[in-house]
Amino acid sequence: MSSSPTAIRQAHDAAPAVVPRTLPAWTYRHPELVDLEYEQLFRPSWQFACHISQVKNPRDFVTLDLLRDSVIVVRGDDGVLRAMMNVCRHRASRMLDGSGTCKARMTCRYHGWTYNLQGDLIVRPAEQTFSGAPKKELGLRPVDLEVLCGMVFVRLVPGGPSLKEMWKDYVHMLEPYRLEEMVPLEEPSVETWNCNWKVGVDNNLENYHVPIGHPGYDRLLESDIKGFINQHGVAGSRSVLRSTPSRVWSERMYQKMAPDLNRDLPEDVRSSWLFFTMPPNIGIDIYGDSFDLFQFMPLTAETCTVRYPIFVRPNASREMKILRYLNVRVNRQVSAEDKFLCEGLQGGLNSVGYEFGPLSSWEHCIHDFHDRVRAGCPVATLASAPEGGTLRQHNQAMLRAQVP
Ligand code: FES
Ligand SMILES: [Fe+2]
Repeated sequence: MSSSPTAIRQAHDAAPAVVPRTLPAWTYRHPELVDLEYEQLFRPSWQFACHISQVKNPRDFVTLDLLRDSVIVVRGDDGVLRAMMNVCRHRASRMLDGSGTCKARMTCRYHGWTYNLQGDLIVRPAEQTFSGAPKKELGLRPVDLEVLCGMVFVRLVPGGPSLKEMWKDYVHMLEPYRLEEMVPLEEPSVETWNCNWKVGVDNNLENYHVPIGHPGYDRLLESDIKGFINQHGVAGSRSVLRSTPSRVWSERMYQKMAPDLNRDLPEDVRSSWLFFTMPPNIGIDIYGDSFDLFQFMPLTAETCTVRYPIFVRPNASREMKILRYLNVRVNRQVSAEDKFLCEGLQGGLNSVGYEFGPLSSWEHCIHDFHDRVRAGCPVATLASAPEGGTLRQHNQAMLRAQVP
């Protein structure tokens, strides 16, 4: 780093009079809170479904499985991309699995109810036996869908800000990378991390840990330690490849090759890596040669899944493939380091030796995220966990008390 950590600290340290605190430790290990968070934070949020290249042609579809719900994203024969709940309106069978190309109609595997690709129920066996349940009221429930720079997102509960609004401060930073031209490198990896999902998100929201936790990144990049955030909680940082060659060959090769190979990108973005987090659970990392995405989903109170798709430019030259290989090598190592660090934290969060901690001004994005958790789940402001079986009641009472 050309500026030492001390110099950066002096430039950014404006400690507030009252030091903000993390969420209390119990919120990272309480089974009843997971359900509440899913309802209050996940269902009303934008969730990554796929890249636009995966649903390019009519009848292309993907399914996205969340904790309690599944969503279909499908392109109709009319060319329109739609999202709908992946649950039959008869007795709740799942309609589609995986991804691929479907027929012009989706037929339920259980009793044969058949829907068109707009989600309308068009045929059901023994129609005359369903008097009083009109077909037109029993289509697959529609889901919000929006595309951001080639990334397709869905939202189960409507009403919040659009993606366009949430990202309006940053779209100009994303656009030069032409993410919409990229394609999946491979099937996304899905890992289980032995930590609460918020541990993973907290980790993604600060670069304070980079110099110690990621020696490779620290050799390769000059990190923007403090980063930035907007009113919608979309946080980011821009890191620049260091001009001092790394002592590790793969990092040194990447430093050398990236600015030369990304010549079709504007000069100022060729050597920049962008790291974003969108609440509650999406991380997006953007490089000249590729981009990847983290999607943390709760599994239990103390485990989560991390979906990690990588997207790359199609028809890459041999050199570009080498660059990409180097990138994946560096970032797989960083991801393994993050998993190790996060799982270590979970151990401490279970200990009687820890209740909560202070946040540095370099961790201001975590503070914002925790405020969002507290807004949706005010029970998370309690210093200790409510008695078993009462968490939802407490939360409802606290939400009611907030209504003027
Ligand atoms: S559950 Fe789908 S047709 Fe019965
Ligand atoms: Fe990290």
